[in-house]
Amino acid sequence: MTWGIIGAMPSEIALLETQMSNVKKETISGLSYQSGTIRGKDVVLCCSEIGKVNAAMCAQTLALRYNVGCMINTGVAGCTCEDLGVLDLVLSRDLVFHDYDWKLQEKYHPHTSRFPGDPKLIELAKKALEQIPGRDYQYKLGRIATGDVFVDDEDLRRSIIERTEPDCVEMEGAAIALVAYSNQIPCLVIRCMSDNANGDAGMSFDTFEKIAADHSAKLLLSMLELAE
Ligand code: ADE
Repeated sequence: MTWGIIGAMPSEIALLETQMSNVKKETISGLSYQSGTIRGKDVVLCCSEIGKVNAAMCAQTLALRYNVGCMINTGVAGCTCEDLGVLDLVLSRDLVFHDYDWKLQEKYHPHTSRFPGDPKLIELAKKALEQIPGRDYQYKLGRIATGDVFVDDEDLRRSIIERTEPDCVEMEGAAIALVAYSNQIPCLVIRCMSDNANGDAGMSFDTFEKIAADHSAKLLLSMLELAE
């Protein structure tokens, strides 16, 4: 099985790139795809750039061109729950869009507005988390809400929480999950909190982006190590 791995920003795939062997690069529709192996597993790694459309384009290419057996989205997010903080981590129990009318999504393709994380990938991630030496952050299985906006405003944060009850917000996960769902490919989104999606989000993001991105990528490395 080939693992399809998407990070939206260079920081979100940087650690994974350093761990990759036998790398072959290909550019498709302006995005660069790196095929190779990590921890002995076949992977295709792509930096999608930010936002739902870029992420969906990338996920669809992984499905059709690379025939990946699963899709993992790794990266950072803004925390919107009480029980986690910056540098803690969310595994996608499910994903929703916070800027898309759920009634329309249910009426038209893909006829659902909620995309669950794959149970086997969730189990593997939990096992991998237990084996990370000296792990000093918490994690939870939770809801990730996706939209084409960096959330750094209290009113918007409150409105997203009221409408979708997420544990964190980001800009790609549900788009990738929708494409995976449409192609019947198991999918998991892993997000480490870089900020609290509030007025301080920009500053917090700048401070914690790299370390949060690496936490998420380290978990994925540990999953690849454990996988059969
Ligand atoms: N990714 C990281 N932090 C974010 C935020 N506050 N809003 C949207 N995407 C994010």
